[in-house]
Amino acid sequence: MVKICCIGAGYVGGPTMAVIAVKCPSIEVAVVDISVSRIQAWNSDQLPIYEPGLDEVVKKCRGTNLFFSTDVERHVAEADIVFVSVNTPTKTRGLGAGKAADLTYWESAARMIADVSKSDKIVVEKSTVPVKTAEAIERILTHNSKGIKYQILSNPEFLAEGTAIQDLFNPDRVLIGGRETADGKKAVDALKSVYAHWVPEDRILCTNLWSAELSKLAANAFLAQRISSVNAMSALCEATGADVAQVAHAVGTDSRIGPKFLKASVGFGGSCFQKDILNLVYICECNGLAEVAGYWRQVIKVNDYQKSRFVNRVVSSMFNTVAGKKVAILGFAFKKDTGDTRETAAIDVCKGLIGDKAHLSIFDPQVGEAQIQKDLALNKFEWDHPAHLQPAAAGAAKQVSVVRDAYEAAKGAHAVCVMTEWEEFKGLDYGRIYEGMQKPAFVFDGRNVVDVEKLREIGFIVYSIGKPLDPWLKDLPAVA
Ligand code: NAD
Ligand code: UDX
Repeated sequence: MVKICCIGAGYVGGPTMAVIAVKCPSIEVAVVDISVSRIQAWNSDQLPIYEPGLDEVVKKCRGTNLFFSTDVERHVAEADIVFVSVNTPTKTRGLGAGKAADLTYWESAARMIADVSKSDKIVVEKSTVPVKTAEAIERILTHNSKGIKYQILSNPEFLAEGTAIQDLFNPDRVLIGGRETADGKKAVDALKSVYAHWVPEDRILCTNLWSAELSKLAANAFLAQRISSVNAMSALCEATGADVAQVAHAVGTDSRIGPKFLKASVGFGGSCFQKDILNLVYICECNGLAEVAGYWRQVIKVNDYQKSRFVNRVVSSMFNTVAGKKVAILGFAFKKDTGDTRETAAIDVCKGLIGDKAHLSIFDPQVGEAQIQKDLALNKFEWDHPAHLQPAAAGAAKQVSVVRDAYEAAKGAHAVCVMTEWEEFKGLDYGRIYEGMQKPAFVFDGRNVVDVEKLREIGFIVYSIGKPLDPWLKDLPAVA
């Protein structure tokens, strides 16, 4: 029986390995982590992450050929293939701070593999890493080797949260990069044969190591760039009376452009886009490519602009002050169908409103109070470290309360801000919400989920990203 071990039981390691286990009954899969609480949760009925379809997959094979364990060293020693899916945060200090990837966790995993291995291994980069990381990893592994042979493969993950299980069951492609030597090709074939259990062969792309590593950064940069492009257009739509949804539709029906990833929003979030683009910017700078670095940095700048533009819009619409006013925040996750809040636009918007002394009442169907308070207390980039290494959150922010439903959040509020496109926010009884609010009652929709006309008929003053402005807002001074 082939044995696989995955170091890192997070949003990628957990679902990816569960799908490998369910699709390959002949393979034994162990997912290991240094976080005891995370492993306990994977072994319980309350999995550590919310992901549609994940529970069923885990239940099918946990205890049969899928195991979650903190016994990292034993499982690594026994494995033929070791995936490494640990955090690769943005550095907060020292050389490259604020841009470069922090490979501390990767390096410690590699050193541990070198220490405990007693047999040859294929080591697979599953984490997103800077191009050329495989070379560094190879040096760490071979420097310590006791005659043990390692093959390093790059096999970046393209799943998106909220759709991880369907993405893994039916990927657009699986990418495997390896050394172009006989041993390298053998290793690529071994990993290919794992995916071949369910992925058609023409969707398994094999490249050299550096192409695979760079393709992951490139794919995320291209995706994020589409969102920044449509978000940049949303500002121009508001200024001119065009409707960003109509513009995106007209643009996206060009088959060369395509319709996906053109939804204007308050800004993209998630653990990957910003981190990976900053990493790309840093790599460009290190290679003397200042113009290329500047091009990609602009994607982040527009995203930051979109978030601050939203806050400015809220404050300026409400007579230039939200001090002491209750503002309901609907949604905190970075997108629907996940409880993940990493880099969610809601954090920056909430911090902006708190900075203007608003009182926030927050509701998200999948995010609890402890997480929200922690997110609002952490500094930039501090979130992306194993939970037990994160700084303890300061006391709960006095201006923030976290409530159990949207109606409670909006009761007595001056404004409602929609931060996440949860389906349930479309079907809310906005008449009831309006009745319970201060007047004039505002809705600021950062996701274009509400029916603008209907809400205006109810009496709301409505702002929806990139839509023609409410007559009320048109008369106000322009927002910078
Ligand atoms: P995560 O924080 O959810 O999980 C990482 C896990 O690794 C944590 O549980 C942590 O405790 C563990 N860990 C860290 N160092 C360890 C060590 N030395 N030994 C054992 N366990 C260790 O992160 P994630 O979202 O799963 O992302 C992991 C990697 O995959 C990152 O490089 C990320 O950029 C990449 N990625 C993420 C996504 C996504 O949607 N989240 C998609 C594609 C790629
Ligand atoms: C992303 C990539 O899609 C995935 O391939 C990679 O493996 C990890 O990073 P993820 O961050 O989980 O996945 O979600 P994604 O669906 O890409 O959304 C990222 C952010 O962009 C979210 O905040 C989402 O709301 C936003 N978004 C997405 C938009 O604002 N508009 C869109 O049209 C699409």
